[in-house]
Amino acid sequence: MSWDDIIRPDLAPLAPYAPGLRASQVRERSGKDVVLKLSSNEHPCGPVPMAVEAMKAVLPRMNRYPDGGVNALRHKLADIHGVPFEQVVVSNGSNELLRLLAQVLIRPGDEIVYPWPSFVVYKMVADMFAATHVQVPLDGAFANDLDAILAAITERTRLVFLCNPNNPTGAIYGREAFAQFMDAVPPHVVVVIDEAYFEFATSADYPDGLDWFDGERPVVVTRTFSKIYSLAGLRVGYGFMPEPLVCAIDKVREPFNVNTVGQIAAYYSLDDHAEVRRRRQENQEQKVYLYSCFDRLGVSYVPSETNFVYFMTDRPVEVFEALLEEGVIVRDFGDAPALRVGIGTPEDTFMTIAALEAVAARLGSI
Ligand SMILES: Cc1ncc(COP(=O)(O)O)c(C=O)c1O
Repeated sequence: MSWDDIIRPDLAPLAPYAPGLRASQVRERSGKDVVLKLSSNEHPCGPVPMAVEAMKAVLPRMNRYPDGGVNALRHKLADIHGVPFEQVVVSNGSNELLRLLAQVLIRPGDEIVYPWPSFVVYKMVADMFAATHVQVPLDGAFANDLDAILAAITERTRLVFLCNPNNPTGAIYGREAFAQFMDAVPPHVVVVIDEAYFEFATSADYPDGLDWFDGERPVVVTRTFSKIYSLAGLRVGYGFMPEPLVCAIDKVREPFNVNTVGQIAAYYSLDDHAEVRRRRQENQEQKVYLYSCFDRLGVSYVPSETNFVYFMTDRPVEVFEALLEEGVIVRDFGDAPALRVGIGTPEDTFMTIAALEAVAARLGSI
């Protein structure tokens, strides 16, 4: 018996998702007591206090299955965003929603158009459902190139993923470009607008995908509680989409895909508007400090509408390793001449800047 004959052969060339290094691994390696994990775009603070209290209160009830319909949270999201309840989906992270969308839409050979470099899960779901990949390079400002994406759409295109702001570059496309794109995109294509970093964006030109959502046309907007709400460990994402898509997803998702603690925490996180504003503001301030460090060191970077910054380096491997030795974990992208660093607390920024300066001094430049 050979496992190669038993396991689907088309899975053989695929690679599992590779998470960044964990702080504990680097602590062992570097011998540093304090290690900053700035590689996964997480928020540095814990969940908001109301969410923590609600989670504690619900723990004794973990003998029960979750609410499989995620009713309370879906109603709350529907009310906040003025979208009918029937068009709201909550999922085990927005990651799961990206997969579920592909699962209900893609027949083998259908084309999925997505920007590149961008969130690796678009590529993974295209592989998973044997879609034809159509990768579209970013524009000169490192944002999704909407004209090129439009030009890449064919009769066989079933799904377009947009990432705004784009991960890993942090750049956005603006309202006018998006309006033109939406006017031109053919109706047989489902446009999924991934807005995982929506709450961090401060540009007046940032288009809220929901402004183009009417519950009829094939548009989906996805967001997450993993970033500004600090619930990455609980896996809660959500999306707005036409009801037929919600019904299709209901047929293939796990029966209880969103855990009770996550549902409760997300529900109460939505009430702390002041904390979300504070986090956005602090993130903005820390980014500016980091930019000035890059300017001082002569390092070019992409101005970011997110909680991370993409910066350029001719020797990503050396710089990545040197930053690890300083106790700072950033994200590398193989051979790409760039690294991505997350924004943390003011103390984290202080340590990140000290680490970047130490690395620049040691290597001569970044
Ligand atoms: C662009 C983008 N979309 C989606 C996700 C998935 O987030 P989650 O599954 O935690 O909601 C991430 C996570 O980093 C992301 O960067």
